[in-house]
Amino acid sequence: MNKYLAALQPKLTKDDYKKLSVISNPEVHQAIFESAELCNPADIFICSDTPDEVAHIRNMAIVTGEESAALSIPGHTFHFDGPNDQGRDRAVTRILVPKGDSLSEALNQMDRDDGLAEVRALCKDAMQGRTMIVRFLTLGPADSEFTIYCLECTDSWYVAHSVDLLYRKGYDAFRRAGDGMVFFNTLHTAGRVDDNMISVDYDKKRIYIDYMANTVYSVNNQYAGNSIGFKKLALRLAIRKAHQEGWLAEHFMIMGVFGTNKRKTYIAGAFPSACGKTSTAMLPGETIMADDIGYVRNIDGICRAVNIESGIFGIIQDINPQDDPLIYEILTNPGEIIFTNILVKDARPWWLGMDEKLPETGINFTGDWFEGKTDDKGEKVPPAHKNARYTVALNVLANCDPELENPAGVELGGILYGGRDYRSYVPVQQGFDWEHGIVAYGAALETETTFATIEAEGKHEINIMSIQDFISIPLGQYLHNYLQFGKNLDKVPPVFGVNYFLKDLDTGEFLNGHQDKHVWVKWMELRINNDVEAIEAPTGWIPKYEDLQPLFKQVLDKDYTKEDYIKQFTIRVQENLAKLSRVEAFYRENIPDVSSEVWHVLAEQCERLLKAQEIYGNYISPESLEG
Ligand code: GTP
Ligand code: MN
Repeated sequence: MNKYLAALQPKLTKDDYKKLSVISNPEVHQAIFESAELCNPADIFICSDTPDEVAHIRNMAIVTGEESAALSIPGHTFHFDGPNDQGRDRAVTRILVPKGDSLSEALNQMDRDDGLAEVRALCKDAMQGRTMIVRFLTLGPADSEFTIYCLECTDSWYVAHSVDLLYRKGYDAFRRAGDGMVFFNTLHTAGRVDDNMISVDYDKKRIYIDYMANTVYSVNNQYAGNSIGFKKLALRLAIRKAHQEGWLAEHFMIMGVFGTNKRKTYIAGAFPSACGKTSTAMLPGETIMADDIGYVRNIDGICRAVNIESGIFGIIQDINPQDDPLIYEILTNPGEIIFTNILVKDARPWWLGMDEKLPETGINFTGDWFEGKTDDKGEKVPPAHKNARYTVALNVLANCDPELENPAGVELGGILYGGRDYRSYVPVQQGFDWEHGIVAYGAALETETTFATIEAEGKHEINIMSIQDFISIPLGQYLHNYLQFGKNLDKVPPVFGVNYFLKDLDTGEFLNGHQDKHVWVKWMELRINNDVEAIEAPTGWIPKYEDLQPLFKQVLDKDYTKEDYIKQFTIRVQENLAKLSRVEAFYRENIPDVSSEVWHVLAEQCERLLKAQEIYGNYISPESLEG
């Protein structure tokens, strides 16, 4: 028995003690001991992933009131986060940087010693009188090149329950791994909670990532994007590890797209929060492999990827039978689902954009809700929060990809990037080569901020590869490694840029419907398999009308008019040039060490646009480029 196990013994049942002692790595015991010593729980529950334990966790979430089962459909529960904990909180999420190390200015960071002192003080005795739940899991399938071991200590049964739906159980993998394995460690505490089990000290919410010790601390919050260590928090740890080892950890959805004769091509896509990952991965008729985070490796020259998760924590707003038929079906049938921050009335969950008239009263994240209710700032409280979500395991979906658990992952046929770009990029285009695609669509990704983070919506910002919030190494180095990753592949996937949010410059209306993305995805599938040609535009290869028109008919049974095509695929030179200069300014200010390749690609794009402007003017119809 090592000293950590001995020290933990008084807080463990005999059974739990045994479960822990058969894991041979003393560092695991040490991590649990240190969390327990700091947070001082009344007792510790070790989850070895048996069905009984998993059921106990779900049941305790209900017994404690963190979740409620007062919904009519079996398996459904709901949970509320506090009014000040409704999204990822960037302002209080920091990377702890030791003295002597330096990251780019654009990243939210803090001195490691100061950060640890602060967050540890907030954790001190935070679990008093409560149970600390310990869960083991793996990011990515177990026993694979991709596997990362993870440990979670939390005092929230809701968090432990969510982990069960979203991640792969890992107790057995920990047992098998033996001594010396590297693992990510997360410590979460909801802190003081009120009678409704909601964290009250939101002003002391802190989420700190200590990459020196591969540890994430999250205190005084419950919103899953802040509390579940393995989402975006461990992603920061994974990015460092990946870049040391020559692979990529990305904000990716991964989907299987069918072509002719059941041909299947996997496409990965990065979008900032609330910009299209889940809705793309859930397109009907295709398969979902991942909807948030993927690890990508060069395996024998081929670009292969896994989903590090095994469930969806998805935005529920706008899920309705027309726009997202598959998810809608899941959410309205029996099965294990946690709804968060929706409106509850008549034992039903209600949300914005569900295509039904919402009730005028009910219970929501502010307690009793009624039409016209205002908050303490006098703002109207919506019936459900815009960032209300559902949590569900992937393997209950009929469209779950059969390769989800393949330890070798799937081969990526293509990679795409997309943000909320109202003005400049066309709905879909393909990069001229890896460098161009990665830089022009990924590194130059510009987006409007959304409701998924706690701050003003609708702010313009650069969001490199849709992952800038989570990058934990110098940004220039990140981009350099990314570009290098492609160069080391024998088979380089084509890179695409999509924009679901292009607006008419005059009317301000979106130029595309939610379902149109399905056509873009099918067009990419054809391009990847060399089935169609494309038009060379200054910003990339764009689709021909003759190829899109039949796709619209086949996929959506829509008549796609030439007028719509021209409106959507007109190259807006001015808007593109303005975008480029914003991107260049960002790089000059924030990433002075960026590799010359990036400048080169941006300069070439600028040159192509200026040259085309001379010939065709500011708005270039795709027809004139077709020549
Ligand atoms: P996170 O889960 O926060 O990482 O976001 P996500 O990237 O998975 O976003 P998701 O696919 O859930 O889409 C989020 C929002 O974008 C929803 O409010 C959708 O209604 C909206 N959206 C998705 N596709 C389209 C589209 O094609 N057009 C428009 N206008 N809105 C869309
Ligand atoms: Mn999503």
